[in-house]
Amino acid sequence: MTTQQVDLEAQLAQLQHSAQAAIASADTLEQLEQLRVNYLGKKGELSQVLRGMGKLDAGERPRIGALANEVKEILQSDLDSKRVALQTAQIQAQLEAETLDVTMPGFYRPQGRVHPLNSTIDQALDVFVGLGYTVAQGPEMETEYYNFEALNFLADHPARDMQDTLYLSDGNLLRTHTSTVQIRYMEENEPPVRIVAPGRCYRRDTVDATHSAVFHQVEILAVDEGLTFTDLKGTIKVFLEEMFGELPIRFRASYFPFTEPSAEVDVQWKGRWLEVLGCGMVDPNVLKAVGYDPEIYTGFAAGFGVERLAMVLHQIDDIRRLYSSDLRFLHQFQ
Ligand code: DAH
Repeated sequence: MTTQQVDLEAQLAQLQHSAQAAIASADTLEQLEQLRVNYLGKKGELSQVLRGMGKLDAGERPRIGALANEVKEILQSDLDSKRVALQTAQIQAQLEAETLDVTMPGFYRPQGRVHPLNSTIDQALDVFVGLGYTVAQGPEMETEYYNFEALNFLADHPARDMQDTLYLSDGNLLRTHTSTVQIRYMEENEPPVRIVAPGRCYRRDTVDATHSAVFHQVEILAVDEGLTFTDLKGTIKVFLEEMFGELPIRFRASYFPFTEPSAEVDVQWKGRWLEVLGCGMVDPNVLKAVGYDPEIYTGFAAGFGVERLAMVLHQIDDIRRLYSSDLRFLHQFQ
């Protein structure tokens, strides 16, 4: 055996040894591919060793050639099995990462609820829509005309006083009741009228357990030929019965500039009478203001305090809870 041959044999053994170690410790498919190129590629280490074969005697070449092939096959098979191992591990890791464990606790997403004021308004609207009323709305910023004048408030009526009404610097005001919608609707529509108008109202009230400077009303208005106080009473009774069931109610004579006669209605709740609405027959002056003929048409109207209705419905003892945004309170509803 020539030294050349011994030398090449040693180099092949050395190459096989280091290549196998490197393949065994490869962590990724990319690294493995790099090793294949480094050892077995065209310009790889094995090719370089084989270049030395040119110096061998012709008789020795086949043996070294065979040996080189053997090394190549060993390395190729090492690369193949390592590739399979890495691919399997990769799939395994992916499976583990993507497995859906249905026994794990879910993510908690807090759910919103309908505010008791909104659900009370919805409930009231449902009753009146069921009775054939149409939902109407008007702006919260109003003029003196719609809030007072067209509703037959005399120029010196105390309710126009700055104490009750929130005036804006431009002379407009924040509506003190939803009765404004009566006028706006009648101006735009011919009788017969049956509307229900929910909305927010504002007054310069001192806040306490039953008063809030911002509050809500639901207004109804019916105008037609031949409507009487009995129609009004029947409508109110049906409405309150739908809302509260069989709670005792009473009508009290009252006064509003825009109705004649007028009444207030109380509901018996927690042993006392709680006022929940004002109502009456539409004053002929109001019908005249919108161009309706009071000789032909009569009407009735009512304004419900939504906060009061909600308090009775949900046994709420203090109106301020409705505005406190306290989730412990709000979570109790629906
Ligand atoms: N607007 C009145 C208020 O705010 C409530 C009211 C009374 C409305 C009688 C009406 C009505 O439609 O007829 O206190």
